[in-house]
Amino acid sequence: MTDSQNKLDVHDVKPLVDDVLQLRCEPLPVVRMAFVGLGKRGKQSFQHFLHIDGVEVKALCDVVPANMHEIQNVLLQHNKPAADLYAEHDDWKIVCERVDIDLIYICTDRSKHAEIAVYAMKHNKHVAIEVPAANTIEECWALVDTAEQTRRHCIMLENCCYDYEELALLNLSQAGFFGDIVHLEGAYIHDLRFLDFENKRHYLDLWKMNGNPYPTHGLGPLCQLLGIHRGDRLHSIVSVSTGQFNFPEHSAVSHSTLTLGNVNTSIIKTHKGKTIVLQHDVSSPRPYTRNYLLSGSRAYAEKRDELKIAVSENPSRYLTADDTKKLVADNEHPFYKTKGDLARNVGAHGGMDFIMDYRLIYCLQNGLPLDMDVYDAAEWSCIVDLSAKSVIEGSVSVGIPDFTRGRWDKLQKLEFFQ
Ligand SMILES: NC(=O)c1ccc[n+]([C@@H]2O[C@H](COP(=O)([O-])OP(=O)(O)OC[C@H]3O[C@@H](n4cnc5c(N)ncnc54)[C@H](O)[C@@H]3O)[C@@H](O)[C@H]2O)c1
Repeated sequence: MTDSQNKLDVHDVKPLVDDVLQLRCEPLPVVRMAFVGLGKRGKQSFQHFLHIDGVEVKALCDVVPANMHEIQNVLLQHNKPAADLYAEHDDWKIVCERVDIDLIYICTDRSKHAEIAVYAMKHNKHVAIEVPAANTIEECWALVDTAEQTRRHCIMLENCCYDYEELALLNLSQAGFFGDIVHLEGAYIHDLRFLDFENKRHYLDLWKMNGNPYPTHGLGPLCQLLGIHRGDRLHSIVSVSTGQFNFPEHSAVSHSTLTLGNVNTSIIKTHKGKTIVLQHDVSSPRPYTRNYLLSGSRAYAEKRDELKIAVSENPSRYLTADDTKKLVADNEHPFYKTKGDLARNVGAHGGMDFIMDYRLIYCLQNGLPLDMDVYDAAEWSCIVDLSAKSVIEGSVSVGIPDFTRGRWDKLQKLEFFQ
């Protein structure tokens, strides 16, 4: 075991309090919400809640008042009561302290995610946090410890877990179509050079990090396929970054201030010996992809631009496009059967964002366990810190903490409660 592993395992000791696996809380027929952070993402997500019954928006909080006023106007245009507005830097604390709010929906930049979430849970609020939920191992543990102590829900808003095809593939996998999954690949490959990282300061913090700063879109759906902390657990990671290469037409991506490396590649191994390759690249001129790849003992799937599937009986040929389409349609996830049309109409990213928010509210209203729990948030977010540690230490293997403290095989499969 490496030094890094020893350090990270300090929490892997006897649990102090009960776990929050499949946590059930009091049903909330009306979910009273507050939004903290109403920038690009917060505004987009807010729209979903106009189309979900049994939601009251009580408070809006952003240090840029114009962002709140824009959303307040939308509320009024939809004949909803006005929300209270909070514009000071630390006003989110006042929002969390209010007794008439059930759920704090956090869409600030990543630096405040865990801090706000911990404070909110300590004030008896459920929390939904944009990705990544945490930046460091300490923040990951803070989320887990606080959720366990307060018995509040803490969900990371990993929308890619609700993608139409990813959900159909999860369905197929849970029905045994792929056999034993042996190897998976995922990524966040998104040409974001137009954001002009340095000059416009968009995502500058992110660009000063090493390793993989944005792992959860690729990793989340893969962990669900493997049943991470539902019969298996992430064990260790090795991470490698390229150097930082210049892109002449985008002077923002320069050697001088940025340390990320253009492409980061990590290999994660699970306790049961499965492997995941995870990549991050936001500076190459190439089409968006989460580079999904699933290799099982009975079938194979990959999704770069379009989904392709091959089966064990004829492994050298992909199913035809029509057969693939039919297979996916026949295994359409129930979420899309019931809410697919609405989701595609009102939500971004092909409907997956709406489905995620709809499910969050549905589970809270019915007192059900959420689809993703605080252990998912910690396991997927901790890769930010651990990939960087591995890169900095020369691509050594780094242990991944067991955030369940030994209870990773108490559940045997991922369940979505109805
Ligand atoms: N899941 C997805 O597909 C997806 C897509 C985009 C962004 N994101 C995530 O969403 C988060 C927000 O991203 P964004 O693009 O909206 O960024 P943004 O900068 O546009 O918005 C962040 C907002 O937080 C506000 N804010 C900052 N400090 C605050 C404070 N102390 N109190 C109240 N408000 C504060 C800012 O004023 C700003 O309006 C990030 O964590 C990002 O990773 C997720």
